[in-house]
Amino acid sequence: MTRILAIETSCDETGAAVIEDGRRILSNVVASQVELHAPYGGIFPEIASRAHVEAIVPVIEQAMREAHLTYDDLDGVAVTYGPGLAGSLLVGVNAAKGLALGSGRPLLGVNHLEAHIYAHWLETAESAPRTASGAELEFPLLALLVSGGHTELILMRGHGQYEYLGGTLDDAAGEAFDKVGRLLGLPYPGGPAIQRASEGGRPTAFRFPRAWLGESYDFSFSGLKTAVLREVQKYSDPPQGQVLADLAASFQAAVVDVLATKTARAAEEFGVREVLLCGGVSANRALREVTTERAAVPVRYLPPFLCTDNGAMVGACAYHHFQAGDRAGWDLDVVPGLRLAGRGRKGR
Ligand code: KG4
Ligand code: ZN
Repeated sequence: MTRILAIETSCDETGAAVIEDGRRILSNVVASQVELHAPYGGIFPEIASRAHVEAIVPVIEQAMREAHLTYDDLDGVAVTYGPGLAGSLLVGVNAAKGLALGSGRPLLGVNHLEAHIYAHWLETAESAPRTASGAELEFPLLALLVSGGHTELILMRGHGQYEYLGGTLDDAAGEAFDKVGRLLGLPYPGGPAIQRASEGGRPTAFRFPRAWLGESYDFSFSGLKTAVLREVQKYSDPPQGQVLADLAASFQAAVVDVLATKTARAAEEFGVREVLLCGGVSANRALREVTTERAAVPVRYLPPFLCTDNGAMVGACAYHHFQAGDRAGWDLDVVPGLRLAGRGRKGR
């Protein structure tokens, strides 16, 4: 049995988890900073890193307590080293180094994007002994990674083998949700708020633009954001009632239409066995439904607590690196701009 303590501090959640054999969640503690950032309508980096400093030790201690383990029971200490906010990543990386050094266990560095994908190999109480996605996953897989910072279509032919098919040219999908949420006068984060506001709204009430960008697998959401802004400016007060619901539903439908259509097309072109929806935006109900409708292969998605940032996904990913013999050095540094696979570049 391999037990890994995994730490996640790339953005605005302080996470620590203990994961057994890359699948079993022995504990998964997340301290959210949402309330601290809400007044700014987005993440304030300086506040984020300070909040991680305060939360990191209690969160790790709680994760160890809930797993009923001591540091001697661990096989490794894993941590996200990028991509993300430098000041936030540093808190996790330094905590992990201290724990690994103190316990004499190996240090593992994890790519946050890869971790979002590996969340699919975890099991939950409902899914055990299957994966949280509900099945044993088969390669090749197509991952749609949609979060606050990223929007990418990744072809995965095996463990650790990534091919970048396309991604956003401007805003990430979650960023578009957050910015449009602000335009609509909704609380931060915009994604869940827009999903809620769209209930009872008509997705066809406003014909918002879709950036198809030809046959490419790239995305663009800035034109859509501008179109929503122009519509909102027609009203003197922030929209409310049916207008708000219609705006939210029409915006959400425009984002989902492009994401689901391109994902279904890539799944067919590359002959994948399954599609994995990953990242915070994959908690979106419309995205799950429409992608499932359009794709010819099974579309897997996760319970919302595994979609947004958490330590469990870092532990799931670290396990595969542990098995492959990967170890980080004591000079492990944060890489805020870390990629999974580059544009036009295969693998890592
Ligand atoms: O993966 P994540 O927790 O953090 C990053 O790595 O960025 O993603 C956060 C993003 C936010 O932009 C948030 O608005 C979005 O995920 N999000 C959603 C939903 N829940 C979270 N977007 C649309 N619908 C949702 N239900
Ligand atoms: Zn994330």
